[in-house]
Amino acid sequence: MHISIVGTGSALPQKAVSNDDLSRTLDTSDAWIYSRTGIRYRHIAGPEETFATLGEKAARDAMTAAGVRPEEVGLIIAATATAGNVTPSSACLVQARIGVPRAVCFDLNAACSGFLYALRTAEALMRSGVAGTALILGGEILSHFLDWNDRSTCVLFGDAVGAVVLRASEDPDAGDILGTVLAADGSQGACLTGRSDPDNHYLHMDGQQVFRFAVRTVPEVIEEVLRQTKTEKEQVRYYVLHQANARIIDAAARRMQEPLEKFPMNMERTANTSAASIPILLDEMARGGKISRGDRLVLAGFGGGLTWGASVVRW
Ligand code: UT7
Repeated sequence: MHISIVGTGSALPQKAVSNDDLSRTLDTSDAWIYSRTGIRYRHIAGPEETFATLGEKAARDAMTAAGVRPEEVGLIIAATATAGNVTPSSACLVQARIGVPRAVCFDLNAACSGFLYALRTAEALMRSGVAGTALILGGEILSHFLDWNDRSTCVLFGDAVGAVVLRASEDPDAGDILGTVLAADGSQGACLTGRSDPDNHYLHMDGQQVFRFAVRTVPEVIEEVLRQTKTEKEQVRYYVLHQANARIIDAAARRMQEPLEKFPMNMERTANTSAASIPILLDEMARGGKISRGDRLVLAGFGGGLTWGASVVRW
């Protein structure tokens, strides 16, 4: 059985905030932020914009692209570290909005690696017969967890939700998830934290420690998944990496001795959107005609937990 990505969608809040906007109230500058991160804008949710409203748009776009009706969806997983509710889950909220009558729905938190964890979970459930069609959402309303007076974190993140539709198929020409490696090391968790405690809910990050972890781990996990799937680097059309920082991606490309052109980036316009970053970039690439049927992509994520992972996907 093949499990293929048959549709993508994404939703960004309406309000875009530039580095220059931030530098009016914060001791920072466009030059510092852009040169250290590759970020110029982030989208910030307004009071009416939630995971559910953005997720509805992303899901509808992905289902339209896939030609899938709501009744066909049997599984919805929402990867998010910033769910607004204890219950109902974000997956259930989106389910209700898009009119999926009956499905297995739950949230999963693996921070910035959440989309890859959800992809692997959905794949395993689909291969075991739980559903033939699944919707995966990756998204965050991170702005609710940022201290807007802390220049070392608030300039880095943005809000967004991305979605993909997966379909199980026996068709030998269908796309597939060829292999995935996931991992976590909770003993390093203190370098990136955010709590649900209302009195102390701001995100804290030891940026340099996370940076060093990412630069070492991302190439390693990619090499591991390439070996596991017997994929040569020449067969990889694109490496779709979590969009935390352009310098991390530059460093990963250099370590892997792969040309930077194979590493698409959009953090300039979105900043780091955690679990949303891979699906919103995939959506942009799919809609921009950058990916063709049969292309091999490597998806790779890393972040809070610490968690990390990589998948090889045939489109
Ligand atoms: O998705 C989750 C994964 N997260 C990541 O991947 C983030 C990984 N880390 C990073 O991307 C980088 O470490 C940062 C972009 C967060 C920081 O870049 P850096 O080159 O490691 O800077 P730094 O933390 O060493 O700070 C250098 C200087 C400091 O000033 P002093 O001590 O040298 O005087 C900071 O206070 O830059 C200062 N600084 C700022 N200056 C202007 C920190 N934030 C800012 C700011 N504007 N926004």
